[in-house]
Amino acid sequence: MRALITGGAGFIGSHLAEALVGAGHVVTVLDDLSTGRAENLATLAGREDFTFVQGNVTHAAALEPLVASSDIVFHLAAAVGVQLVVRSPLRVIETNVMGTHTVLQVAARHGVKVLLASSSEVYGKSDRVPYREDDDRLLGPTTRSRWAYAESKALDEFLALAYHQEMGLPAVIVRLFNTVGPRQTGRYGMVVPRLVGQALRGEPLTVYGDGQQSRCFCHVRDVVRAIRLLAEAPAAIGQVFNVGSREEVTIAALAGRIRALTGSRSEIVYVPYDQAYGPGYEDTRRRVPDTSKVQATVGWQPALGLDDIIRDVMASMSPM
Ligand SMILES: NC(=O)c1ccc[n+]([C@@H]2O[C@H](COP(=O)([O-])OP(=O)(O)OC[C@H]3O[C@@H](n4cnc5c(N)ncnc54)[C@H](O)[C@@H]3O)[C@@H](O)[C@H]2O)c1
Repeated sequence: MRALITGGAGFIGSHLAEALVGAGHVVTVLDDLSTGRAENLATLAGREDFTFVQGNVTHAAALEPLVASSDIVFHLAAAVGVQLVVRSPLRVIETNVMGTHTVLQVAARHGVKVLLASSSEVYGKSDRVPYREDDDRLLGPTTRSRWAYAESKALDEFLALAYHQEMGLPAVIVRLFNTVGPRQTGRYGMVVPRLVGQALRGEPLTVYGDGQQSRCFCHVRDVVRAIRLLAEAPAAIGQVFNVGSREEVTIAALAGRIRALTGSRSEIVYVPYDQAYGPGYEDTRRRVPDTSKVQATVGWQPALGLDDIIRDVMASMSPM
Protein backbone atom coordinates (compact mmCIF):
# COMPACT_ATOMS: atom_id res chain seq x y z
CA MET A 1 0.00 0.00 0.00
CA ARG A 2 1.19 3.52 -0.80
CA ALA A 3 -0.02 5.83 1.94
CA LEU A 4 0.02 9.62 2.18
CA ILE A 5 -0.14 10.95 5.73
CA THR A 6 -0.97 14.65 6.04
CA GLY A 7 0.27 15.98 9.36
CA GLY A 8 2.61 12.98 9.54
CA ALA A 9 5.36 14.91 11.32
CA GLY A 10 3.01 15.46 14.25
CA PHE A 11 2.42 13.38 17.32
CA ILE A 12 -0.07 10.75 16.05
CA GLY A 13 0.99 10.97 12.40
CA SER A 14 4.63 10.11 13.11
CA HIS A 15 3.61 6.99 15.08
CA LEU A 16 1.30 6.01 12.21
CA ALA A 17 4.11 6.55 9.67
CA GLU A 18 6.46 4.30 11.64
CA ALA A 19 3.80 1.59 12.02
CA LEU A 20 2.94 1.60 8.29
CA VAL A 21 6.57 1.54 7.14
CA GLY A 22 7.22 -1.21 9.70
CA ALA A 23 4.41 -3.25 8.13
CA GLY A 24 5.99 -2.96 4.65
CA HIS A 25 3.99 -0.06 3.21
CA VAL A 26 5.41 2.90 1.27
CA VAL A 27 4.73 6.17 3.09
CA THR A 28 4.83 9.84 2.14
CA VAL A 29 4.31 12.54 4.75
CA LEU A 30 3.06 16.03 3.90
CA ASP A 31 3.46 18.46 6.77
CA ASP A 32 4.08 22.20 7.12
CA LEU A 33 5.93 21.65 10.43
CA SER A 34 3.74 24.22 12.20
CA THR A 35 3.27 22.06 15.29
CA GLY A 36 4.99 18.91 13.98
CA ARG A 37 8.73 18.33 13.97
CA ALA A 38 11.10 16.67 11.52
CA GLU A 39 12.76 14.90 14.51
CA ASN A 40 9.54 12.94 15.02
CA LEU A 41 10.38 11.11 11.78
CA ALA A 42 14.08 10.63 12.51
CA THR A 43 13.82 6.81 12.51
CA LEU A 44 12.46 6.89 8.93
CA ALA A 45 14.77 9.49 7.39
CA GLY A 46 16.81 8.22 4.44
CA ARG A 47 14.72 5.07 3.84
CA GLU A 48 13.65 4.27 0.28
CA ASP A 49 10.11 3.48 1.36
CA PHE A 50 9.64 6.85 3.07
CA THR A 51 9.42 10.42 1.74
CA PHE A 52 8.93 13.67 3.62
CA VAL A 53 7.47 16.68 1.82
CA GLN A 54 7.21 20.04 3.58
CA GLY A 55 4.03 21.74 2.40
CA ASN A 56 0.56 22.95 3.23
CA VAL A 57 -2.65 20.92 2.85
CA THR A 58 -4.52 24.00 1.70
CA HIS A 59 -2.40 24.07 -1.50
CA ALA A 60 -4.07 21.80 -4.05
CA ALA A 61 -1.05 21.93 -6.37
CA ALA A 62 1.21 20.45 -3.66
CA LEU A 63 -1.35 17.76 -2.84
CA GLU A 64 -2.25 16.73 -6.37
CA PRO A 65 0.78 14.56 -7.31
CA LEU A 66 1.06 13.11 -3.82
CA VAL A 67 -2.58 12.02 -3.69
CA ALA A 68 -2.52 10.76 -7.30
CA SER A 69 0.32 8.35 -6.49
CA SER A 70 -1.28 7.01 -3.26
CA ASP A 71 -3.78 4.24 -2.47
CA ILE A 72 -4.97 5.97 0.69
CA VAL A 73 -4.71 9.35 2.41
CA PHE A 74 -4.62 9.51 6.20
CA HIS A 75 -5.69 13.11 6.75
CA LEU A 76 -4.34 14.15 10.14
CA ALA A 77 -3.08 17.68 9.40
CA ALA A 78 -4.97 20.16 11.56
CA ALA A 79 -4.49 23.09 13.90
CA VAL A 80 -4.70 21.30 17.27
CA GLY A 81 -4.51 22.13 20.97
CA VAL A 82 -6.79 24.17 23.21
CA GLN A 83 -4.36 27.06 23.63
CA LEU A 84 -3.73 27.33 19.90
CA VAL A 85 -7.46 27.14 19.26
CA VAL A 86 -8.27 29.93 21.70
CA ARG A 87 -5.46 32.19 20.45
CA SER A 88 -5.62 31.57 16.69
CA PRO A 89 -9.19 30.74 15.65
CA LEU A 90 -8.57 31.98 12.11
CA ARG A 91 -5.74 29.54 11.57
CA VAL A 92 -7.89 26.75 13.02
CA ILE A 93 -10.78 27.42 10.66
CA GLU A 94 -8.54 27.88 7.60
CA THR A 95 -6.46 24.76 8.20
CA ASN A 96 -9.20 22.46 9.39
CA VAL A 97 -11.95 23.44 6.97
CA MET A 98 -10.14 24.63 3.83
CA GLY A 99 -7.34 22.08 4.23
CA THR A 100 -9.77 19.18 4.62
CA HIS A 101 -11.92 20.39 1.74
CA THR A 102 -8.85 20.54 -0.51
CA VAL A 103 -7.76 17.02 0.50
CA LEU A 104 -11.25 15.60 -0.14
CA GLN A 105 -11.59 17.39 -3.48
CA VAL A 106 -8.26 16.11 -4.76
CA ALA A 107 -8.85 12.58 -3.41
CA ALA A 108 -12.30 12.43 -5.02
CA ARG A 109 -10.81 13.48 -8.34
CA HIS A 110 -8.39 10.55 -8.19
CA GLY A 111 -10.73 8.05 -6.46
CA VAL A 112 -8.31 7.69 -3.53
CA LYS A 113 -9.64 6.55 -0.14
CA VAL A 114 -9.45 9.05 2.76
CA LEU A 115 -9.33 8.34 6.47
CA LEU A 116 -10.22 11.56 8.26
CA ALA A 117 -9.05 12.24 11.83
CA SER A 118 -11.93 13.98 13.56
CA SER A 119 -12.25 14.66 17.26
CA SER A 120 -14.39 13.94 20.33
CA GLU A 121 -14.64 17.75 20.55
CA VAL A 122 -17.53 17.49 18.08
CA TYR A 123 -19.72 16.30 20.99
CA GLY A 124 -19.05 19.67 22.64
CA LYS A 125 -20.24 19.97 26.24
CA SER A 126 -23.06 17.44 26.03
CA ASP A 127 -23.41 15.69 29.41
CA ARG A 128 -24.95 12.52 27.99
CA VAL A 129 -21.96 10.21 28.43
CA PRO A 130 -20.82 7.83 27.10
CA TYR A 131 -20.94 9.53 23.71
CA ARG A 132 -22.31 7.47 20.82
CA GLU A 133 -21.50 8.33 17.22
CA ASP A 134 -25.11 9.25 16.41
CA ASP A 135 -25.74 11.33 19.56
CA ASP A 136 -26.88 14.95 19.43
CA ARG A 137 -24.12 17.50 19.95
CA LEU A 138 -24.10 20.54 22.25
CA LEU A 139 -21.73 23.39 21.36
CA GLY A 140 -21.25 26.83 22.89
CA PRO A 141 -21.81 30.19 21.19
CA THR A 142 -19.78 31.45 18.23
CA THR A 143 -18.51 34.33 20.39
CA ARG A 144 -16.33 31.79 22.25
CA SER A 145 -13.49 30.96 19.86
CA ARG A 146 -12.82 27.73 21.73
CA TRP A 147 -15.76 26.13 19.87
CA ALA A 148 -14.23 26.90 16.45
CA TYR A 149 -12.19 23.70 16.62
CA ALA A 150 -15.22 21.49 17.36
CA GLU A 151 -17.21 23.23 14.65
CA SER A 152 -14.38 22.90 12.12
CA LYS A 153 -14.05 19.16 12.79
CA ALA A 154 -17.83 18.69 12.51
CA LEU A 155 -17.79 20.48 9.17
CA ASP A 156 -14.93 18.19 8.08
CA GLU A 157 -17.15 15.22 8.87
CA PHE A 158 -20.08 16.70 6.92
CA LEU A 159 -17.75 17.31 3.98
CA ALA A 160 -16.31 13.78 4.01
CA LEU A 161 -19.78 12.23 4.24
CA ALA A 162 -21.04 14.48 1.44
CA TYR A 163 -18.11 13.53 -0.82
CA HIS A 164 -18.85 9.89 -0.04
CA GLN A 165 -22.55 10.27 -0.79
CA GLU A 166 -22.35 12.46 -3.88
CA MET A 167 -19.00 11.57 -5.47
CA GLY A 168 -18.56 7.98 -4.25
CA LEU A 169 -15.38 8.88 -2.35
CA PRO A 170 -14.38 6.02 -0.03
CA ALA A 171 -14.10 7.93 3.27
CA VAL A 172 -13.75 6.71 6.87
CA ILE A 173 -14.15 9.09 9.81
CA VAL A 174 -12.39 8.45 13.09
CA ARG A 175 -13.38 10.55 16.10
CA LEU A 176 -10.32 10.43 18.28
CA PHE A 177 -10.72 10.99 22.02
CA ASN A 178 -7.77 12.18 24.14
CA THR A 179 -4.72 10.46 22.69
CA VAL A 180 -1.46 10.47 24.60
CA GLY A 181 2.06 9.08 24.36
CA PRO A 182 5.65 9.92 23.53
CA ARG A 183 6.22 12.97 21.26
CA GLN A 184 3.08 14.82 22.29
CA THR A 185 4.15 18.23 23.49
CA GLY A 186 2.63 20.22 26.34
CA ARG A 187 3.15 23.47 24.42
CA TYR A 188 -0.39 23.73 23.07
CA GLY A 189 -2.22 22.82 26.26
CA MET A 190 -2.01 19.00 26.21
CA VAL A 191 -2.49 18.04 29.83
CA VAL A 192 -0.53 14.78 30.26
CA PRO A 193 2.85 15.91 28.82
CA ARG A 194 2.46 19.26 30.60
CA LEU A 195 1.87 17.67 34.03
CA VAL A 196 4.55 14.99 33.55
CA GLY A 197 7.04 17.70 32.50
CA GLN A 198 6.18 19.79 35.56
CA ALA A 199 6.55 16.75 37.85
CA LEU A 200 9.92 15.78 36.36
CA ARG A 201 11.23 19.35 36.72
CA GLY A 202 9.99 19.56 40.31
CA GLU A 203 7.60 22.40 39.46
CA PRO A 204 4.03 22.70 40.79
CA LEU A 205 1.51 20.60 38.84
CA THR A 206 -1.06 23.04 37.45
CA VAL A 207 -4.60 21.70 37.24
CA TYR A 208 -7.06 24.00 35.45
CA GLY A 209 -10.49 24.62 36.99
CA ASP A 210 -11.54 22.52 39.99
CA GLY A 211 -9.89 19.37 38.59
CA GLN A 212 -13.17 17.44 38.69
CA GLN A 213 -13.51 17.48 34.88
CA SER A 214 -12.77 13.98 33.60
CA ARG A 215 -11.22 12.48 30.48
CA CYS A 216 -10.28 9.04 29.10
CA PHE A 217 -6.69 8.85 27.85
CA CYS A 218 -5.75 6.35 25.16
CA HIS A 219 -2.20 5.31 24.29
CA VAL A 220 -1.14 6.44 20.82
CA ARG A 221 -0.08 2.86 19.97
CA ASP A 222 -3.65 1.66 20.53
CA VAL A 223 -5.02 4.58 18.50
CA VAL A 224 -2.69 3.85 15.56
CA ARG A 225 -3.82 0.20 15.65
CA ALA A 226 -7.47 1.32 15.46
CA ILE A 227 -6.73 3.72 12.58
CA ARG A 228 -5.02 0.95 10.60
CA LEU A 229 -7.79 -1.58 11.22
CA LEU A 230 -10.48 0.90 10.17
CA ALA A 231 -8.53 1.93 7.07
CA GLU A 232 -8.48 -1.68 5.91
CA ALA A 233 -12.09 -2.60 6.74
CA PRO A 234 -14.53 -2.29 3.79
CA ALA A 235 -17.40 -2.10 6.31
CA ALA A 236 -15.93 1.14 7.73
CA ILE A 237 -16.40 3.14 4.53
CA GLY A 238 -18.93 5.97 4.86
CA GLN A 239 -19.02 5.50 8.65
CA VAL A 240 -18.01 7.45 11.78
CA PHE A 241 -16.18 5.72 14.66
CA ASN A 242 -15.29 6.75 18.19
CA VAL A 243 -11.75 5.69 19.09
CA GLY A 244 -10.65 6.10 22.68
CA SER A 245 -10.22 4.58 26.09
CA ARG A 246 -13.10 3.92 28.52
CA GLU A 247 -10.86 4.43 31.59
CA GLU A 248 -12.23 7.69 33.01
CA VAL A 249 -10.10 9.83 35.31
CA THR A 250 -10.56 13.33 36.74
CA ILE A 251 -7.71 15.73 36.03
CA ALA A 252 -7.11 16.09 39.79
CA ALA A 253 -6.73 12.30 40.07
CA LEU A 254 -4.52 12.29 36.96
CA ALA A 255 -2.20 14.82 38.60
CA GLY A 256 -2.09 12.58 41.69
CA ARG A 257 -1.22 9.49 39.60
CA ILE A 258 1.52 11.40 37.77
CA ARG A 259 2.91 12.65 41.07
CA ALA A 260 2.97 9.11 42.46
CA LEU A 261 4.48 7.46 39.38
CA THR A 262 7.19 10.10 38.90
CA GLY A 263 7.97 10.11 42.64
CA SER A 264 7.59 13.89 42.53
CA ARG A 265 7.02 16.02 45.63
CA SER A 266 5.58 18.88 43.61
CA GLU A 267 2.41 20.42 44.99
CA ILE A 268 -0.76 20.39 42.93
CA VAL A 269 -2.10 23.91 42.32
CA TYR A 270 -5.48 24.81 40.87
CA VAL A 271 -5.53 27.53 38.20
CA PRO A 272 -8.88 29.13 37.26
CA TYR A 273 -9.85 28.62 33.61
CA ASP A 274 -9.94 32.40 33.06
CA GLN A 275 -6.29 32.60 34.05
CA ALA A 276 -5.28 29.61 31.90
CA TYR A 277 -7.24 30.37 28.73
CA GLY A 278 -8.63 33.91 29.09
CA PRO A 279 -12.12 35.07 30.08
CA GLY A 280 -15.22 33.03 29.26
CA TYR A 281 -13.56 29.66 28.69
CA GLU A 282 -16.04 26.74 28.72
CA ASP A 283 -14.95 23.17 29.39
CA THR A 284 -16.51 19.78 28.84
CA ARG A 285 -17.05 18.19 32.27
CA ARG A 286 -16.91 14.52 31.26
CA ARG A 287 -15.75 12.99 28.02
CA VAL A 288 -16.23 9.24 27.70
CA PRO A 289 -16.60 7.34 24.40
CA ASP A 290 -18.95 4.49 23.63
CA THR A 291 -16.61 2.29 21.60
CA SER A 292 -19.00 -0.57 20.84
CA LYS A 293 -19.14 0.36 17.12
CA VAL A 294 -15.38 0.13 16.48
CA GLN A 295 -15.24 -3.02 18.59
CA ALA A 296 -18.08 -4.66 16.62
CA THR A 297 -16.67 -3.58 13.23
CA VAL A 298 -12.96 -4.38 13.57
CA GLY A 299 -12.68 -6.01 17.03
CA TRP A 300 -10.64 -3.15 18.48
CA GLN A 301 -10.24 -2.25 22.11
CA PRO A 302 -7.32 -0.57 23.89
CA ALA A 303 -4.61 -2.82 25.30
CA LEU A 304 -2.75 -0.21 27.38
CA GLY A 305 -3.95 1.66 30.47
CA LEU A 306 -3.31 5.04 32.07
CA ASP A 307 -0.26 3.89 34.05
CA ASP A 308 1.36 2.53 30.84
CA ILE A 309 0.74 5.90 29.22
CA ILE A 310 2.22 7.91 32.09
CA ARG A 311 5.27 5.63 32.27
CA ASP A 312 5.89 5.88 28.49
CA VAL A 313 5.51 9.67 28.51
CA MET A 314 7.85 9.87 31.52
CA ALA A 315 10.45 7.68 29.80
CA SER A 316 10.31 9.81 26.66
CA MET A 317 10.73 13.06 28.62
CA SER A 318 13.38 11.98 31.10
CA PRO A 319 16.91 13.17 30.37
CA MET A 320 19.05 10.26 29.09
N1 LIG B 1 -4.03 14.18 20.12
C1 LIG B 1 -5.31 14.08 20.40
O1 LIG B 1 -5.67 13.83 21.55
C2 LIG B 1 -6.35 14.21 19.32
C3 LIG B 1 -7.69 14.09 19.70
C4 LIG B 1 -8.66 14.24 18.74
C5 LIG B 1 -8.31 14.45 17.41
N2 LIG B 1 -7.01 14.57 17.07
C6 LIG B 1 -6.69 14.80 15.65
O2 LIG B 1 -5.61 13.98 15.23
C7 LIG B 1 -4.85 14.67 14.26
C8 LIG B 1 -3.38 14.68 14.67
O3 LIG B 1 -3.25 15.39 15.91
P1 LIG B 1 -1.92 15.37 16.80
O4 LIG B 1 -2.33 15.25 18.20
O5 LIG B 1 -0.94 14.42 16.23
O6 LIG B 1 -1.44 16.89 16.63
P2 LIG B 1 -0.09 17.48 16.01
O7 LIG B 1 -0.21 18.97 16.13
O8 LIG B 1 1.09 16.83 16.59
O9 LIG B 1 -0.23 17.04 14.47
C9 LIG B 1 -0.83 17.85 13.48
C10 LIG B 1 0.18 17.96 12.35
O10 LIG B 1 -0.40 18.69 11.28
C11 LIG B 1 0.58 19.58 10.77
N3 LIG B 1 -0.13 20.67 10.11
C12 LIG B 1 -0.88 21.65 10.69
N4 LIG B 1 -1.38 22.48 9.76
C13 LIG B 1 -0.94 22.01 8.56
C14 LIG B 1 -1.13 22.44 7.23
N5 LIG B 1 -1.87 23.52 6.94
N6 LIG B 1 -0.52 21.73 6.24
C15 LIG B 1 0.24 20.64 6.52
N7 LIG B 1 0.44 20.19 7.77
C16 LIG B 1 -0.15 20.87 8.77
C17 LIG B 1 1.38 20.02 11.97
O11 LIG B 1 2.66 20.53 11.66
C18 LIG B 1 1.45 18.71 12.75
O12 LIG B 1 2.58 17.95 12.37
C19 LIG B 1 -5.46 16.07 14.12
O13 LIG B 1 -6.33 16.08 13.01
C20 LIG B 1 -6.26 16.23 15.40
O14 LIG B 1 -7.35 17.09 15.22
C21 LIG B 1 -6.01 14.46 17.99
